[in-house]
Amino acid sequence: MPESVRPAVRRCIYFVPNVWDAIRGRVDPLVPERGLRFVGSGDYRQVGREFLGHFRTHAGLSPDESVLDVGSGNGRMAVALLNYLSDAGRYEGFDVVGEGVEWSRRVLTARRGNFRFRRADVHNRLYNPAGRHAACRYRFPYDDATFDFAFATSVFTHMLAEEVDNYLRQIARVLRPGGRCLLTFFLINDESRRLMAEGRSELAFGHRLGRCLVQSVRKPHAAVAYEESDVRNMLDDAGLRLRDPVLFGRWCARARWVGYQDMVVADRPG
Ligand SMILES: C[S@@+](CC[C@H](N)C(=O)[O-])C[C@H]1O[C@@H](n2cnc3c(N)ncnc32)[C@H](O)[C@@H]1O
Repeated sequence: MPESVRPAVRRCIYFVPNVWDAIRGRVDPLVPERGLRFVGSGDYRQVGREFLGHFRTHAGLSPDESVLDVGSGNGRMAVALLNYLSDAGRYEGFDVVGEGVEWSRRVLTARRGNFRFRRADVHNRLYNPAGRHAACRYRFPYDDATFDFAFATSVFTHMLAEEVDNYLRQIARVLRPGGRCLLTFFLINDESRRLMAEGRSELAFGHRLGRCLVQSVRKPHAAVAYEESDVRNMLDDAGLRLRDPVLFGRWCARARWVGYQDMVVADRPG
């Protein structure tokens, strides 16, 4: 289906359920209407609150900081940050899906002028198949050394290796010396490999594609995993210093976990 008609088709499909939600008083103005919820399952508000907790606890986020949301989707993390960042703080988000960016501007920038969103017309086979720019060469539209904290939640789980390499270099470029980032991945190591082999993992990354492991060769961007050792090297090559320990997730039924996906916190050395 052509990109240009997708929003209209979605609006038609979800027209009745959205009206039904409104009749039942089930409309939260800070949650996008059905048809705009393309960021995965789970309670939109709850997932945002959970990550705000991770940003504060594991990456030391504080209210006056300048924050970059790489792959801001339909504003799920921005909503959680809306009443946390102060007027001295700043939030910038960008994403390849225009509808998510438009909703975020209309609803969130309208409430807090220091929350800004941009559309990046970058190719992603799943989210923006007609994108004009290659992710492996895309330059983030921000000056060097302008952010205290950057995050990418459930974004590198949809990107291939050269794309992630470039995004890590870009994150290192736009972070101030001493700035931190929190990034989620599906990490392959001895434990996740064993759990996948035992059939206990929710996801099985059975196909190797260069440095990545993917669930589906036909739709590689649908779910992408990386060897933990590779991610350590990728961060290092980008000029980011990983802060151990890695915060492992429960996606593969690990016994000890912090969230759903695996999380790494890294900083740009000062
Ligand atoms: C599962 S959603 C997560 C969205 C958001 N980070 C969150 O946690 O709510 C994945 C997001 O990554 C975005 N994305 C995929 N490739 C991208 C790229 N190359 N640059 C920026 N965003 C990208 C998609 O458009 C989508 O919004």
